[in-house]
Amino acid sequence: MTVSGRQVVRAVIAGCGSALPRRVLTNAELSTMVDTSDEWIVERSGIHARHIAGEGETTRSLGAEAARRALAHAGIGVEEVDMIVVATSTPDLTFPATAALIQADLGVQKGAAFDVQAVCSGFVYALGVVDALIKTGQARCALVIGAETFSRILDWTDRATCVLFGDGAGAMVLVAEHHPDTPASPGLLVTRLHTDGRQNDKLFVDGGPSTTGTVGHLRMEGREVFKHAVVNIAAVMEEVMTVAGVQPADVDWFVPHQANRRILEGTARKLGIRADRIVMTLDRHGNTSAASIPLAFDLAVKDGRIRKGELVLFEAMGGGFTWGAVLARF
Ligand code: UT7
Repeated sequence: MTVSGRQVVRAVIAGCGSALPRRVLTNAELSTMVDTSDEWIVERSGIHARHIAGEGETTRSLGAEAARRALAHAGIGVEEVDMIVVATSTPDLTFPATAALIQADLGVQKGAAFDVQAVCSGFVYALGVVDALIKTGQARCALVIGAETFSRILDWTDRATCVLFGDGAGAMVLVAEHHPDTPASPGLLVTRLHTDGRQNDKLFVDGGPSTTGTVGHLRMEGREVFKHAVVNIAAVMEEVMTVAGVQPADVDWFVPHQANRRILEGTARKLGIRADRIVMTLDRHGNTSAASIPLAFDLAVKDGRIRKGELVLFEAMGGGFTWGAVLARF
């Protein structure tokens, strides 16, 4: 580890929150809707249940609730917020951005609010963007929200995809603080983002404003995505640890995007991260795309597992393909 007395601006995680729709959809119930079984879903993905948005529950309402809880956890008032970034692929409207709608709901009146669209990697991308905005002095107190209602873009007759996803939202409050430039100081240490647009047809939605004029449905070549995920996730995790000068054994918690239990455990094994250091929520949330990382983080902070001062590695991979990782000292 490099140690220096030089002070730098860090984006520090000051609080977190989450929100889930009321309705829980179990594998047993899904088995009455499509030709599937609890055994198949659990064995192939690790998912037992997921939350599904009902009437009145949208990406905006879930995101705003998660943000309120994150601000309360941080002990920070809305008047201090000067940036809102929402990671979502299921916005309430084509425009304006869901972030603008949430800004109005919260009563935030300064700074900017916009959405980031990188599908399941959205939250990691949003952290990367906010980290840069805080370091360059454009924001001092940012809300980073991952919020999704994927149930509304699923083809409920396609058993290969509809069993995998769920709805929800998570949020973090990030504040600018001055700290010595060492991995021991709090804040985001390293963020790395990647895209390979040649793979855009492996995981996509077959509609949009400029093509069909419809919302469309999610389509995925699961086995292809799986193959790339294992390679890309391990590579970007190694990349951020190398840049930060830390070893896998230094990482206290691995908070990954929750797509598939086999991907998470395989990656951790490959990098030498202990299984009991992985925060796993996909059993109860399914894959909530950009919401899965902040949902998992919030759960593990609130149940006392992740504590202040610990080193946390976030990673995600999704449609695009996009992938990325963030190493942070909480
Ligand atoms: O979040 C963004 C990133 N997304 C991911 O990382 C997802 C990556 N992919 C995966 O997690 C896995 O590929 C899946 C969980 C989607 C699928 O698991 P798999 O082991 O790759 O299964 P498969 O797609 O190769 O399908 C195996 C069999 C097929 O039958 P045949 O062709 O072997 O006869 C499918 O038709 O399972 C069948 N199948 C199902 N059977 C029961 C597919 N879906 C279902 C289902 N229930 N829901």
